[in-house]
Amino acid sequence: MSEPPDTQTARAPRIRAGDDAAWSGILRQIIDLSAEEHNLRAMLRRVAELVLDATAADACFVHVVEHDSAEVVLMGASPAEFEPVVGSVRLPIGEGIAGWVAQRGCPALVEDKWNDPRYRYIPALRGEEFSSLVSVPLVGPHGVVGALNVHARRPRHFDLKDMEALSSVANLLAGIVENGVLYDRLLHREAELERFAARTIELQELDRRRIAADIHDGISQRLVSAWYHLKAAQSAPDTTTSRAEMEAVDGLLSDALDEARRAIVGLHPAVLDDLGLTAAITSVSASLGTDLAIDLDLAELELASHVEASLFRIVQEALQNVVKHASASRVAISLAAGAEGVKLAISDDGRGFDPDSARAATSYGLSGIHERARVLGASFELCSRSGDGTTLLICLPPAGESSNSRPDHRPTPAGSP
Ligand SMILES: Nc1ncnc2c1ncn2[C@@H]1O[C@H](COP(=O)(O)OP(=O)(O)O)[C@@H](O)[C@H]1O
Ligand SMILES: [Mg+2]
Repeated sequence: MSEPPDTQTARAPRIRAGDDAAWSGILRQIIDLSAEEHNLRAMLRRVAELVLDATAADACFVHVVEHDSAEVVLMGASPAEFEPVVGSVRLPIGEGIAGWVAQRGCPALVEDKWNDPRYRYIPALRGEEFSSLVSVPLVGPHGVVGALNVHARRPRHFDLKDMEALSSVANLLAGIVENGVLYDRLLHREAELERFAARTIELQELDRRRIAADIHDGISQRLVSAWYHLKAAQSAPDTTTSRAEMEAVDGLLSDALDEARRAIVGLHPAVLDDLGLTAAITSVSASLGTDLAIDLDLAELELASHVEASLFRIVQEALQNVVKHASASRVAISLAAGAEGVKLAISDDGRGFDPDSARAATSYGLSGIHERARVLGASFELCSRSGDGTTLLICLPPAGESSNSRPDHRPTPAGSP
């Protein structure tokens, strides 16, 4: 814990506000720091320390604009006792002095903050201990990226000279913060990509295991069985027995052939490449080999091939679930494009289930659907209630409206330019 600052006497600034040469020294130190330190928080903590030291104030906070949430977030602080709250103190843009400064892009000199209507008390920043403050905006090439606040415990008259000196720090800091935010975003993206690659490999392995299980449990078993029946036919004592055995071989081989066809369609339906998504969905529905009534309402859309492949896999897994778990008599699949993007819905009239308990299970079918939707930048909704059927809804927004959409996501009616 650092020494409590002397609250009786105001300290003399190490650098006087108008001492341009000394402030230039601070700016140089910040430039050196920006080259050495790529961690934005660590960098802003050092800048806050430098500013605090130079101004002999009692606290320095750097708030950074977060556009997604429309908030300013405390990203650098000095003295060190505020370090634990860095990253967690947030103010809506427009609220509090930092929010006001970030919104308007102009500085604020506040001698008595308790009489300033813009001031908002933040317990984590121990507002009760400070009286005066100066706040300057960090204005970068693309707008305001934050606010630099300097607080004094005792009433202090920060003047225009203080503000000018701090503004030159803020101007320099703005570009650094902008780069730092972009760098952090890049790191985040990279981590996401790594997670995605790991998940893709996991999904591939799961697919392979499923295919191996299909071949082992279905095709192989039938072939082995057919072989025994063939042997029995060869050594049959009479033609009636031999014919009965050969009929069994016939049935087993035709079942094995059906299973092999289903497995091939499951692996990669050639029809997806040749005729597109609607034909592939129609073909996979027809190959289910059940009494399930299937209503298809599929619009012909031109989608990127990776989008088609993912939507196809989603339908395939959803249909397998209906067959395996739903005891349904009907399933409806619809694919449509509108102003809100592409919508895929798979709905059955089966027994339904509790999605929360399924989520806790270690199966990967539904989580695979969720993952595929997420990778496409689509939303995934699962509505199911015991006894009330199940509906899966995937909505793929038009290009540019999802975080990871690609330009070729935009659906166009088939045949349009
Ligand atoms: N259409 C459905 N109708 C009824 N239950 C379903 C349906 N889809 C999924 N479930 C339930 O959710 C569980 C998880 O599904 P899933 O993740 O695909 O794993 P798996 O199919 O391997 O069991 C299933 O075990 C089943 O209980
Ligand atoms: Mg499943």
